[in-house]
Amino acid sequence: MQSLIRDTLQKIGKKYATDKCAYRFKGLTYLHIYDLYFRWKRWKINPISLLELGVKSGASLKMWRDYFGKKAWIAGVDKNPACKKIKALGNTIHIYTGLQDDRKFLNKMLKIEEEFDIIIDDASHFQKETLRSFQILWEYVVSDGIYAIEDIKKMNEIILPLVKYLDKRKDMKFLHLFPQLCIIGKV
Ligand SMILES: C[S@@+](CC[C@H](N)C(=O)[O-])C[C@H]1O[C@@H](n2cnc3c(N)ncnc32)[C@H](O)[C@@H]1O
Repeated sequence: MQSLIRDTLQKIGKKYATDKCAYRFKGLTYLHIYDLYFRWKRWKINPISLLELGVKSGASLKMWRDYFGKKAWIAGVDKNPACKKIKALGNTIHIYTGLQDDRKFLNKMLKIEEEFDIIIDDASHFQKETLRSFQILWEYVVSDGIYAIEDIKKMNEIILPLVKYLDKRKDMKFLHLFPQLCIIGKV
């Protein structure tokens, strides 16, 4: 039987040296897991729109562009203004400078970006920022979209408040946990 685990995204991640390539659990990286959830979206008729909180060198944004294709609309948010100067992003990757949980800043960005098929939080990894960003941005995830939170140090600090929040809204399709990674699907 063919394995569901494929190296497609891992190979692209390695090319750009994003730290998402690091092995987290027995032979698997975040990228093997993401590929399970995202591979179906590569063939969408409408180009994918993806937001990543935390840009650093732009490695993962370039990886998403190669994975989803040149028509994918990719946005990155980082508090470091130097990220705006990253080279070779092409014209489908857009960088916004600001704090991941600054509602005013995010609302301004959302006027341009409108909605996302995928949001990935790889920014501060602190509880307060992570939860605040989620509460602002979940609204902007499309139906059947995905919100992923990386590098969760203390699962109970993030997951319990998240489930409480989502339970009230009734628009969570699934919440899957992996070591340090949470993937939430929207109804
Ligand atoms: C782990 S790095 C991102 C790596 C990148 N996603 C990748 O995989 O190649 C985290 C980034 O988040 C940014 N960051 C940290 N706290 C932030 C915050 N509160 N708001 C926005 N960006 C933040 C840092 O400046 C840093 O560039």
